[in-house]
Amino acid sequence: MDGNGRWAKQRHQPRIFGHKEGAESVRHVLKACAELGVKYLTVYAFSTENWGRPRAEVDFLMGLFSQLIDREVTELMKSGVKLQFLGRLHQFSPDLQDKIRTAMDKTKGNKRITLSVMVNYGGRAEIVDALNEIVESRKLKLEGRIEEKDVQAHLYTKDMPDPDLLIRTANEMRVSNFLLWQIAYAEIYVTETFWPDFRREQLIAAIEAYQKRERRFGKLS
Ligand code: IPE
Ligand code: MG
Repeated sequence: MDGNGRWAKQRHQPRIFGHKEGAESVRHVLKACAELGVKYLTVYAFSTENWGRPRAEVDFLMGLFSQLIDREVTELMKSGVKLQFLGRLHQFSPDLQDKIRTAMDKTKGNKRITLSVMVNYGGRAEIVDALNEIVESRKLKLEGRIEEKDVQAHLYTKDMPDPDLLIRTANEMRVSNFLLWQIAYAEIYVTETFWPDFRREQLIAAIEAYQKRERRFGKLS
């Protein structure tokens, strides 16, 4: 979800103003996805590298996550949204971790759509965590080579299909450590739109572009 800062700057507002409006975009895009029958929406909210931002901005984002959980869980229950936070959660404050766990537990039975918020997430970190889990689980019994399916089964996203469409806002043409394993065959859509301006109409444009792609998964046709 890129471009919050630039969106705010355009309006001569502080960066956090953009993050706040960006949270509104998540709400709009989630609603539109649910209505369109999309089963999984995965958003990149905070990377393992984002700790390097100014303290005030990091604190604001942490506060925003916690506020959103407080305000939205009732609505998510009503609209059948399973909410999960994926990433190295243990580096968050105990308070936020508690909130996250409670919200995930409460919404885990919801079936309409899964909203995954990737926080303190890095694609490389996820693969390293998966490999460590595999090694840990194999300490007592040797089971031969590690296969692709073993890595898949230990990713944070183990219960989800690989994404079909990766949307990159604010015209950034790089992957920035997002879902490195899972996007092997994802269709990438880049738009100049800053994330706070990305709403239903922009989502539909992205899906329409996706529908015109020919997906071959490495085969001839
Ligand atoms: C939001 O956009 C990404 C988050 C980490 C929440 P940015 O904060 O990266 O916005 P730009 O790139 O400065 O415009
Ligand atoms: Mg950015």
